[in-house]
Amino acid sequence: MSNETLTVTDNRTGQTYEVPIVDGTVKAMDFRQMKTGEDDFGLMTYDPAFTNTASCRSSITYIDGEAGILEHRGIPIEQLCESSSFLEVSYLLVHGELPTKDALDYWVYTITHHTYVHENIKKSMEAFRYDAHPMAMLLSTVGALSTYYPAAKDIDDPTERYMAIVRLIAKMPTLAAFSYRHNLGLPYVYPDNDLWYTGNFLSMLYRINEPKYEPDPRLERALDVLWILHADHEQNCSTAAVRAVGSSQVDPYSAVTAGISALYGPLHGGANEAVLRMLHTVGSLDKVPAFISSVKKGEGRLMGFGHRIYKSYDPRARIVKQVAEEVFAVTGVNPLLETAQELERIALQDEYFVNRKLYPNVDFYSGLIYEAMGFPVDMFTVLFAIPRTAGWLAKWEEMVCDPETKITRPRQVYTGADVRDYVPMTARG
Ligand code: CMC
Repeated sequence: MSNETLTVTDNRTGQTYEVPIVDGTVKAMDFRQMKTGEDDFGLMTYDPAFTNTASCRSSITYIDGEAGILEHRGIPIEQLCESSSFLEVSYLLVHGELPTKDALDYWVYTITHHTYVHENIKKSMEAFRYDAHPMAMLLSTVGALSTYYPAAKDIDDPTERYMAIVRLIAKMPTLAAFSYRHNLGLPYVYPDNDLWYTGNFLSMLYRINEPKYEPDPRLERALDVLWILHADHEQNCSTAAVRAVGSSQVDPYSAVTAGISALYGPLHGGANEAVLRMLHTVGSLDKVPAFISSVKKGEGRLMGFGHRIYKSYDPRARIVKQVAEEVFAVTGVNPLLETAQELERIALQDEYFVNRKLYPNVDFYSGLIYEAMGFPVDMFTVLFAIPRTAGWLAKWEEMVCDPETKITRPRQVYTGADVRDYVPMTARG
């Protein structure tokens, strides 16, 4: 055996084991052989939130959390935001390489021509309560999409997989826009295939009776950059959910529904909505110190701060701040910007946040931009789900094609009662 090994002495038995180290990891199953006796099940590793467990191999997204680096297929996020578009990045995530011009044109054409949904999907969305949360509408409707594409169950067929990827990336803005119009009681607007992905989304949201909606190109581009930033992020909570559910070999529509559900939570994608609600609660600048004190007392979290992986700075947050300036130049400054900046200024100097390496994450400023662009707060997480669909599906495809994939099925440490007899109702205290 090479010296790429770990020697473990089990002090319960005095026995020594040598386990291989591959790519900086040891296999949890290698610990199973460490037993105290014949009847012992063997050692397991305990890592409830996967804080130090690699659950798969992936060649899609690289993050160095200490250095604040994010790369997709090796290309730094800064370069993608500068030079690429959301649809090109989604191609890159799914295919592994940047497209040629012809390949990109075909990809854009294909996505654009799958934006329509079955009329019955529209009707089923009409059945939601008038004030249904758009994330809840989105996750139920994406689940319902699986009933329209039963062939997607054949996940071993590359063509079916590809069509599901195209359809989901294409239809997500349509469903998101329908949920927005539903909340406003406005008729749903069909996709306009002459427009770019983000421009078409704005058209489906805001078009009233004009024959053609003309999106402001600056806002269209700002949204494109925000969606590049949100397109993928390694093995985050929602991606892990898609992979775990997808590992049962369910169809991709159902697997992506799990991702949307995970993203909905305030510690994940729902943070952008929570940040805005927090800023409204804090209100004015003079209330910021009291709010920071309450966070330090454990009375709540500073939403939009902190990250499981980034322990210096979230590189996406830096770009979001630039986008904010560009958007505010068009829309006017969001009045809550000053409050957010003051929260950031105080937090970055405060030892509570410094010691815990808590910095603004991508969601700290994105909500301010979305609000300035006219999106209601309820829509913010939906605006995260649309682009993240590309990342979910790239990871799902990678998982399906990975020969190491097995159904996700964690173990547990049982803490309940020892075996005991059933007690009849009459004999219970
Ligand atoms: N405000 C105040 N304290 C915090 C915060 C925060 N936002 N985040 C972490 N802490 C504290 C936490 O209380 C703990 O303190 P102690 O050691 O005294 O118990 C310490 O920092 C470590 O926190 P943790 O919860 O163990 O860290 P985690 O890696 O499990 O959680 C996180 C990461 C993102 C869930 C967390 O930082 C958080 O809740 N942030 C606010 C929600 C948020 O902005 N989420 C968006 C994440 S980025 C977008 C995305 O990809 O979803």
